[in-house]
Amino acid sequence: MGLYRMDTLLRQARSQKIALGAFECWDSINIQGIAKASAACKTPVIFQATPMEYEPMGGPAALTNMVQFYVEKYGIDAALHLDHGGTLEQVEDCARNGFTSVMLDASAACFEENVRLSAAAAEIAHAANISLEAELGHVTGGDGGEDADSALTVPAEVVEFVRRTKVDCLAVSIGTVHGEYRGKPELHLDLLAEIASLVDTPLVLHGGSGTPIDQLHKAIKLGITKINICTDIHKAFLAGIAEAQATLTPSLAGNFYRPAAAKMTAKTEEMIRLFSTEVK
Ligand code: 13P
Repeated sequence: MGLYRMDTLLRQARSQKIALGAFECWDSINIQGIAKASAACKTPVIFQATPMEYEPMGGPAALTNMVQFYVEKYGIDAALHLDHGGTLEQVEDCARNGFTSVMLDASAACFEENVRLSAAAAEIAHAANISLEAELGHVTGGDGGEDADSALTVPAEVVEFVRRTKVDCLAVSIGTVHGEYRGKPELHLDLLAEIASLVDTPLVLHGGSGTPIDQLHKAIKLGITKINICTDIHKAFLAGIAEAQATLTPSLAGNFYRPAAAKMTAKTEEMIRLFSTEVK
């Protein structure tokens, strides 16, 4: 039980032919739900937050304390990860305050700038004995972006990127988008197979929400070991609020949180089970 480096958990998951869910954290209610779901499935989980998510909670130290509390309460194995860090200062802040993994996302920059920033972030992460995730290719969406802005990972760049940055976990762009899909989701599984044949770095899939499970299972089989989920658990939480609003007297905020938390926890549990079903 406890918080571990994310790459350690991902390598274990890979050896078991499963993937771990990485779920977005926005408050203590949803963090507790993620911990409960992980305990119910007896499967490690990744708590992750962007600066936009942890700042309203009081910053990285506040999030670490909350996550640590629920990890101990439910006796689970977990990692705490900075998702989409935008600056080296944010990487440093999270590394100093108990995160066990960080992402520096320079995927929208050119290759050389992505290498430069990711290598600098790796130095910070490794000095704190935590893992670094970086992204090659660019998964868009979530910020009002168009699917068309995505750039698929270029296999010819993969080996050089991993060698020069010393990245521990590599996020790849193979057809997912953050948030809702605008068209029909279609993962580029041949591209994933090619990338996976080039490096043994654990591979990460952003934009997991809304992706058909048969495609996710094929991706896990080919080497994806971490699947990021944000939109789907937000939708479950908000559906719980909407349901409560229709039936409960709007006098206590807590009345709305209970059904919302239950729905979000059930969704998280469902996804952890789907990702950790061994794919034959
Ligand atoms: P979704 O919102 O599509 O699940 O994407 C989450 C994500 O990739 C966070 O980094």
